[in-house]
Formats: sequence, structure tokens, C-alpha cells
Amino acid sequence: MAVERTLSIIKPDATRRNLTGRINAKFEEAGLRIVAQKRIRLTMEQAGTFYAVHKERPFYGELCEFMASGPVVVQVLEGENAIAKNRDVMGATNPAEAAPGTIRAEFAQSVGENSVHGSDAAETAAVEIAYFFSGLELVG
Ligand code: CMP
Repeated sequence: MAVERTLSIIKPDATRRNLTGRINAKFEEAGLRIVAQKRIRLTMEQAGTFYAVHKERPFYGELCEFMASGPVVVQVLEGENAIAKNRDVMGATNPAEAAPGTIRAEFAQSVGENSVHGSDAAETAAVEIAYFFSGLELVG
């Protein structure tokens, strides 16, 4: 299996409730290594650019407002099959459908305030990582 990197975001609903450490423990227990991490506050414009693919969706405005509503922790996770593994650890987008033990089943509050984001494919992972990190900040 290939070693991959994926972009993860711990969202404002989770930083607000002081859940960063518990969420990071889930990643590490699953064998994902946090090779870059920073806590930042997104502007509406930065959130809008990051989620531009969802621009036409009815929830786009609400999503951008939420992502700019408090600090987020952006991070790069590395490991074998990291993109799919992270999606397993996160659970389904809607916490009501997330498998027991997943981050969203345990911590998410709603489909919008769902605690974490993770890249969905290798191409998007590369774009999303480059959006937040320079090569110098990735310390495997
Ligand atoms: P994420 O994995 O960050 O990718 C896009 C986000 O849009 C998703 O998680 C949800 O937080 C959000 N989202 C998806 N569907 C809805 C919805 N119906 N209402 C509000 N937010 C949504």
C-alpha cells in the first residue's frame, strides 16, 4: 500500500469544545501521523476559496460562515492509504449516519458542524495541502 498524505481540518465546533487532543488521538491510534499542524482563524474569503467546489450548494454561505466562526486546526496526516483511512476514522458526513467509534459519531453536532474535514481523493489532497502549507512546513 502507498504512503499518502491528506489534509485534515478540525473545525470550529470542535476547537470551541476543546476536542483537538481527543480528535488527534483518534488519528494517531489509527496509524496516521500528524506531519504538519497549525491553529488558524479563516476569513470568510479564505473559507469560500477552500470550499469553492460547493459554491452552488444551498449550504455554501452557512458553511463559510461556520468555518470562519472560530479557530480551526489545519493538519497534514500521513500514512499508508491515509486518504481512505482518514475518511474511515472521521465517519460519514452526517453524524446520524456515522459508524460507532468514528470522530463524527462521537463528537459532531450536525451535518454542518461535523467537527472534521478530510480530503476525498489524491488530487484534492494535493491541492488542499498546498492551500495551507508550504513544503518547508511538512516534516515527515
Ligand atoms: P466537509 O467534509 O468539510 O465538506 C463539505 C462540508 O459541507 C461538509 O463537510 C459539511 O460540513 C457541509 N455540509 C454538507 N452538507 C450540508 C448540509 N446539508 N448543510 C450544511 N452543511 C453541509
